Amino acid sequence: MNTPITDQEFSQFQRFIYDAAGIHLSPAKKALVCGRLAKRLQAHRLERYGDYFALLQDQRHAAEAQTAIDLLTTNETYFFREPKHFELVRSIAAAAHGSAPLRVWSAACSTGEEAYSIAMVLADTLGGRAFEVVGTDISTRVLQQARTGHYPEQRTRNIPPAYLKRFCLKGQAEQAGTLLVERSLRQRVRFVHANLNTSLPDLGLFDIVFLRNVMIYFNGDTKRQVVARVLSLLKPGGHFCIGHSESLNDISTAVLPVAPSIYRRP
Ligand SMILES: C[S@@+](CC[C@H](N)C(=O)[O-])C[C@H]1O[C@@H](n2cnc3c(N)ncnc32)[C@H](O)[C@@H]1O
Repeated sequence: MNTPITDQEFSQFQRFIYDAAGIHLSPAKKALVCGRLAKRLQAHRLERYGDYFALLQDQRHAAEAQTAIDLLTTNETYFFREPKHFELVRSIAAAAHGSAPLRVWSAACSTGEEAYSIAMVLADTLGGRAFEVVGTDISTRVLQQARTGHYPEQRTRNIPPAYLKRFCLKGQAEQAGTLLVERSLRQRVRFVHANLNTSLPDLGLFDIVFLRNVMIYFNGDTKRQVVARVLSLLKPGGHFCIGHSESLNDISTAVLPVAPSIYRRP
């Protein structure tokens, strides 16, 4: 049984996740932080949150920092979330010409549902033409899950029936109740570890970028820096989608609004 977290210990974890990911944890998240980290205290046979924080600073436990990041991020997502953005992807793909592959980035992709939803629309609209979807996230745990393309069936409810039939395999026997994204579609989606709060890996330039439901965790300064970094990988004329509850007011003028939560780089 752990000793309850003190205010000072909580502020140490606030600082840890802010420095690591740019995530602002409000005091209202105290119970959530305790709940999520409790199993790590148990795993290391520690009683106090402060001892676990000390362990996170210890170079001999360097891998533990990633585990703590995995636990302190919120990864809620689902297929075809905020459907307007997928209509946009369809209309851009339908109008695309030339031989260059259409490239779309799901920044903060979580367990991959957003990236695979984009890939389904592109495969459907572009026919045999080339495209690439890249998904990135700070959490290695969600990326591992994303790469499998394997989901409980109840999480795939929003996939249109025609896409379910065409791009997903229904689990049989011990896999019953699960769905696997078909290999040929999985091969067109690449998942890369990237922290939006630090310099980005070389991902190339994109025609469309999704940066959805992650800015909500950042303060104004972090939002400005992250958006500038992300937009540096958007092609001129490219589209930028943010979550419906998010805004670019006072954050960036590098892109212009074309519809609610949709922007375009001039
Ligand atoms: C709520 S999910 C959003 C998933 C998806 N974009 C959607 O809208 O459904 C937020 C994701 O952002 C990731 N995240 C948080 N801070 C990050 C950072 N600094 N760099 C990269 N990813 C981050 C989390 O790990 C989490 O998977």
